[in-house]
Amino acid sequence: MSVTPEELGRQLRTPSGPLGLKVAEGMNQTNQQLIAYCQEALALAPGQSLLEVGPGNGQHVPALLAGLAGSRYLGLDLSPDMVAAAQAHSSPQIRFEQGDLLSHPLPGPFDKALAINVAYFWQPLVPALKALFEALKVGGTLVLGVRDRATMASQPQFQEGFTFFDGPDLAQALEEAGFTVSYRQRPEHSVTILGQLMPKQALIYTAIKEAAC
Ligand SMILES: C[S@@+](CC[C@H](N)C(=O)[O-])C[C@H]1O[C@@H](n2cnc3c(N)ncnc32)[C@H](O)[C@@H]1O
Repeated sequence: MSVTPEELGRQLRTPSGPLGLKVAEGMNQTNQQLIAYCQEALALAPGQSLLEVGPGNGQHVPALLAGLAGSRYLGLDLSPDMVAAAQAHSSPQIRFEQGDLLSHPLPGPFDKALAINVAYFWQPLVPALKALFEALKVGGTLVLGVRDRATMASQPQFQEGFTFFDGPDLAQALEEAGFTVSYRQRPEHSVTILGQLMPKQALIYTAIKEAAC
């Protein structure tokens, strides 16, 4: 993929056009391990409802719901082109809508919520986390997956418009939004979106809405 780091950074933030579709396919490959870690933390059960923010082209979604009778999924993405691509995976159980977490009216409340590689773009952060808190039922769980600062800071495409996280900083913001939080750092052996082999460190947050604020 021949593209400047700045353009790649913009595409990761809001994929669009033919390049956006390619970038999304690249993410399907490079984010598999992180998605698997988040799926494990989410522990979605039959009959539960799930809101995912920023699902991109939605390729991972059917596997997320496989075998879970009665579960329902809504994927909300800022990019119209991602939502159009994701419609290929829609079903009576799985829906996608275009919108911004901060302004889109969300049906709900949901049992669970998920956002993988999206928290970097929420600036300011706490209002977005509060919107997720509001979207959940009492007792509901939010899972966030991101790469840590050391992983992100080593790549030129992440320099503009990305917030980096060390671990405690995002946990503190989640607590400020009302959640009870735990997180784990987990290793990934993966490639970058440009195809270079690279060890990565994932941060997986499990945030519980124990009571309405
Ligand atoms: C880096 S991609 C991650 C895609 C996928 N979750 C993955 O990890 O492979 C970020 C996605 O989040 C979407 N996004 C960014 N900010 C958003 C917001 N405020 N509301 C909804 N979607 C957003 C983008 O359009 C993009 O599809």
